[in-house]
Amino acid sequence: MGAKLSKYDLDTPALVLDARALRNNIEQMARFFSGQRAKLRPHAKTHKCPQIARLQLEAGAIGITCAKLGEAEALADVASDILIANQVVGAQKLARLVALRRRADVMVAVDCREHVDALSQAAWAAGATLRVLVEVDVGMGRCGVASAEEALELARIVSRAPGLRFCGLQGYEGHAVMIPDPGKRRETAEAAMAYLVGVRRYIEGHGLPVEIVSGGGTGTYNITGAYPGVDEVQAGSYATMDAKYAGIVPEFQPALTVLCTVISRPAADRAILDAGLKAVTSEFGMPLVVGLEEVQCRRLAEEHAILEGPGASKLRVGDKVELIPSHGCTTINLHERYYVLEGETVVDEWPIAARGRCQ
Ligand SMILES: Cc1ncc(COP(=O)(O)O)c(C=O)c1O
Repeated sequence: MGAKLSKYDLDTPALVLDARALRNNIEQMARFFSGQRAKLRPHAKTHKCPQIARLQLEAGAIGITCAKLGEAEALADVASDILIANQVVGAQKLARLVALRRRADVMVAVDCREHVDALSQAAWAAGATLRVLVEVDVGMGRCGVASAEEALELARIVSRAPGLRFCGLQGYEGHAVMIPDPGKRRETAEAAMAYLVGVRRYIEGHGLPVEIVSGGGTGTYNITGAYPGVDEVQAGSYATMDAKYAGIVPEFQPALTVLCTVISRPAADRAILDAGLKAVTSEFGMPLVVGLEEVQCRRLAEEHAILEGPGASKLRVGDKVELIPSHGCTTINLHERYYVLEGETVVDEWPIAARGRCQ
């Protein structure tokens, strides 16, 4: 970049990333895992960015997790060990998956025989080997087999399937990660992991080695990451953080904001920003307004944020205002790049390479 640019010189809406907070978050998580038997495999569905994945790997992460095949394709130049923590279904995707296998050692989740048969056929035809985790529903009610018996049966099918290697189990305790009460969160996450590790022991007891048990998110990293029998944790949001997680894991710092401009002051207690649902999510509630007292974001329209409260009277048309999104993952997905800050200076632009890669 040329002359020094302040963040306040950026055109808006702009997704800005505080590099120091990002580094602190990555270091803080790496420190936790340096003292654990379990390892960190950060979920890149949050940041979707090669530069951030690289920082996580340099800090000791063993690989990355992706939600989608398209994300894995976008990040395979920086990560050679990638878990796609989902089922990959359909002929086009299977062809891409085996092609991706030439660039990275991918691992995918399955929870039924149809997944295994299709993966095996695609891998075998391509002369490739794909690593497979059997997904177990640990209480979230999303994907996953429903019992230890089903998990064993599927694990046996995978271990006999040409082109596949049974590596272990995935169980994501998504129903626990955002429970505000720490005791209740711990209790729920531990119950989920007790079940998952029980499934592990059941499979091992039937003579099938289980190399990897993978689970965990930002809200449970220190519970799941310390649970005996868990090998990998898939936390993602901790790197950038968001308003929803701020109250749950305050040891991580908010690194992400959407910089906006006041475009209208139609009433004494109302200010309108140039960022609506196309720039910041309302998924987990309204964004937080940074550094302004007695002003709240009341509503997001397509292209407008409506701020209300007595503090709005201090705002002038053209002023810059920062919002902390309620959810980082879905907000980041709306932007093409991060403007990377050291203090208030823009020092870089990082492409959000896996943005929109939902196929
Ligand atoms: C499979 C899986 N693993 C891990 C996570 C954890 O993500 P976070 O750290 O953002 O809670 C998620 C979040 O949706 C997920 O779907």
